[in-house]
Amino acid sequence: MKTITPPTIIIDEEIQWDKTKTIVSKTDTYGTILYANDVFASACEYNPIELIGEPHNIIRHPDMPKVAFKALWDALKNGQNYHAIVKNLTRSGRYYWVITDFTIDKDENGNVTGYTGRRKAVPDAVIKTIEPLYKTLLDIEKIKGEKASELYFEAYLKEEVGKSYDEFVIDLFAKETVKENNLKKEKTIEKAPKEELSKLKKGLNWFFFGETNPQ
Ligand SMILES: Cc1cc2nc3c(=O)[nH]c(=O)nc-3n(C[C@H](O)[C@H](O)[C@H](O)COP(=O)(O)O)c2cc1C
Repeated sequence: MKTITPPTIIIDEEIQWDKTKTIVSKTDTYGTILYANDVFASACEYNPIELIGEPHNIIRHPDMPKVAFKALWDALKNGQNYHAIVKNLTRSGRYYWVITDFTIDKDENGNVTGYTGRRKAVPDAVIKTIEPLYKTLLDIEKIKGEKASELYFEAYLKEEVGKSYDEFVIDLFAKETVKENNLKKEKTIEKAPKEELSKLKKGLNWFFFGETNPQ
């Protein structure tokens, strides 16, 4: 039984959720939710039982261009796992950004039974790259139609990125996560008291600290 009505008022505010965790959901082959973990339920402000039996598009954010989901479904129907950066809508109309790893579930005979989405938080720099692209795709979709948006997306990936969207997303996420982790390490070192600092530095390459005479 369908019980959820998505919010009509959109609030331009990120929801707080535990970004160390993984948001998981499973669907049937039509995208109907069969399973939602507690992290998912809490991030989108529903409870797991409410989510069961609902179409996954109940958390679709209006800032997401249609072509992003078309590419997802084309990949899954072609038997390919997929990755996408997604902005999701919460019950209160707020949002959260994630990278989703989509995989295909099969029974023992190899028949597709459904799909699983596992999501991680993304560094801000990933959002800064993807958000303007999605905005352009959405504007094209609204003004020139869905097909025009799809053709622009294909051309953008070919001319500007030189790889498939799936590869683009994986590489962007990996690159920005490494950068963010390095920055966090540097900050930890800056804040550490002198004795801690010397212990920390012993495990690191002196070259990066510009010191000439390490003992
Ligand atoms: C396993 C799985 C997980 C999905 N997760 C999301 C999601 O987190 N957010 C979302 O907007 N759509 C998600 N979708 C895609 C939706 O099914 C749907 O295609 C999308 O929300 C666009 O809605 P529409 O097809 O009605 O335009 C998921 C689909 C699958 C198969």
